[in-house]
Amino acid sequence: MKKKVMVVFGTRPEAIKMCPLVLALAEHKDELDVVVCVTGQHRQMLDQVLGTFGVVPQYDLNVMRADQTLTTITSDVLSGMRDVLQKERPDVVLVHGDTTTSFAAGLAAFYERIPVGHVEAGLRTNNLLSPWPEEFNRQAVDVFSQWYFAPTETARENLLREGKDDARIWVTGNTGIDALSYTVREDYDHPELAWAEGHRLILITAHRRENLGDPMRHMFRAIRRVLDEHGDVRAIYPIHMNPRVRSVAAEELSGEERLHIIDPLEVVDFHNFMARSHMILTDSGGIQEEAPSLGKPVLVMRDTTERPEGVAAGTLRLVGTDETPIYEAFSELLDDDAVYREMSHAANPYGDGHASERIAKILCGSN
Ligand code: UD1
Ligand code: UDP
Repeated sequence: MKKKVMVVFGTRPEAIKMCPLVLALAEHKDELDVVVCVTGQHRQMLDQVLGTFGVVPQYDLNVMRADQTLTTITSDVLSGMRDVLQKERPDVVLVHGDTTTSFAAGLAAFYERIPVGHVEAGLRTNNLLSPWPEEFNRQAVDVFSQWYFAPTETARENLLREGKDDARIWVTGNTGIDALSYTVREDYDHPELAWAEGHRLILITAHRRENLGDPMRHMFRAIRRVLDEHGDVRAIYPIHMNPRVRSVAAEELSGEERLHIIDPLEVVDFHNFMARSHMILTDSGGIQEEAPSLGKPVLVMRDTTERPEGVAAGTLRLVGTDETPIYEAFSELLDDDAVYREMSHAANPYGDGHASERIAKILCGSN
């Protein structure tokens, strides 16, 4: 009998990592029925990705509000998913990573006694406040999951340390890496890249909840100081749609002539911008996984990371959220060729680009 697999996601990064999986699952028509449900925790940034991959969800809870809180997202997703799950009764619900969508959708499945599969299971900082609330979300999802698709051996070890059954853990690589081989192109062009031509291109993103307000202000001040001191540098910042990010950026970064703040890029564009960049400053999770594959140094503007593999590979450096350490690390990477060379070796600690295929085969093969 065919297995009904419901794939649930709601934000941009989940979509980027789950759409390749939806396409891989759909290859197994004889074994699997695939139902896609999006929560719409993100709206525009989610729809961008769905359009890129050509994935059309059967269900859309459309929960996003301009002023959403963790409570509103959780309660809207929990009750919305209950209705969808009672109607569809899938054999397994797949959720991804650490967002509030993943936690609440997984919890709804658990309440309906439907097995949960966790894609990107086992990442840990072991600090519930960093990143917040993501560390809680990912730990909680691993409490009620029955299928653990761990991207790396480190993630598997984290799960084993918590007493999870080794027989339920599969090390698959990260599905986020699957897309890179399709998106990055030699002949890619974009007007913003033309603007940066002949300069070292710095790519910037920032959005973490615990960094909203003062930490983000400190990051932006450090970045501005470095840009002011380096005439051969141009920076592009595709800014998150969160108005709380946009207001601090407007206050701290407007009028900086070496910086363009632009709307979120479609994932194909963003990957090609990464491939053309000299280095990246970010507090993002997914970018920490993609950058090593492209050999691009990343200054991670956070105090912790659940992606130690990229630090071990030498591509990622944690610089915190205070102005001075960010200023110093950013300046050093621009001014010291030896430091730059050490950080810009390509490595693939997060997978070989075939994670989705592996997960699809595992779901077909076992119960
Ligand atoms: C969410 C996830 C975070 C993930 C991030 C990826 C949680 C708690 N947080 O955080 O783990 O790293 O997505 O980007 O699950 N907005 C729009 N349009 C969009 C998307 C967002 O207008 O397409 C605005 C809305 O005003 C929304 C706000 O951004 O209320 C915040 O969105 P939310 O999903 O709550 O938080 P993120 O910081 O995006
Ligand atoms: N990304 C994108 N457009 C952008 C910025 C980022 O497509 O303008 C992609 C990026 O390549 C990565 C993902 O979005 O795959 C990261 O998402 P985000 O930083 O929002 O969330 P996180 O990974 O921190 O949860």
